[in-house]
Amino acid sequence: MNGLARVCWITAPLYAVLEMVFGIYMSASGDHTLSPAHGHLNLLGWVTIALYGAFYTLVPEAAASRLAKLQVLIAQLGVIVIVPGIVFAISGTGEGLAKAGSVLILLSALLFLVIVVRGTGRSAAGA
Ligand code: HEM
Ligand code: HEM
Repeated sequence: MNGLARVCWITAPLYAVLEMVFGIYMSASGDHTLSPAHGHLNLLGWVTIALYGAFYTLVPEAAASRLAKLQVLIAQLGVIVIVPGIVFAISGTGEGLAKAGSVLILLSALLFLVIVVRGTGRSAAGA
């Protein structure tokens, strides 16, 4: 397996474990105030990064480009920035991190779109 896919496959379940500990803590404490932070750690960390890992496993040629490495780096930074950003936004201590994280997440998704279109085209697939 290529290194980029492996990075995604390792970090995605790491986010899942963190998010499950977070979810169990919320359930046990009965305080669900931070549930959007838990939800988005799940959906942007575990689910989205695992989908990136699946694509880069299925289309390893696409993983070889510098753009792909940049895409995964920005996606990871996005998760790391947006989750505490949501916590701060909910607790009323500022929305700056949440906004920065959103832009990073959006940018990584747009780059992914470009990479998928390029990596699955007729000539790329050798059809
Ligand atoms: C150990 C596993 C998990 C536990 C204990 C857990 C616990 C919770 C709890 C207590 C809430 C708050 C519910 C409420 O206030 O209505 C919640 C919300 C949520 N969870 Fe989980 N969860 C777990 C795993 C997952 C997974 C695997 C996903 C998705 C892949 C997920 C996605 C969500 C979402 C989207 C929300 C709603 C977020 C929001 O309010 O904006 N959770 N979870
Ligand atoms: C730039 C990325 C994203 C931003 C800025 C964002 C923002 C938001 C906001 C502001 C809410 C409302 C939270 C609330 O009212 O408590 C929300 C809810 C939600 N988001 Fe996201 N989101 C993003 C990405 C995603 C992704 C990628 C998914 C799924 C894969 C997702 C799934 C959800 C779900 C399921 C809810 C509703 C949870 C509920 O009402 O219980 N979001 N999001």
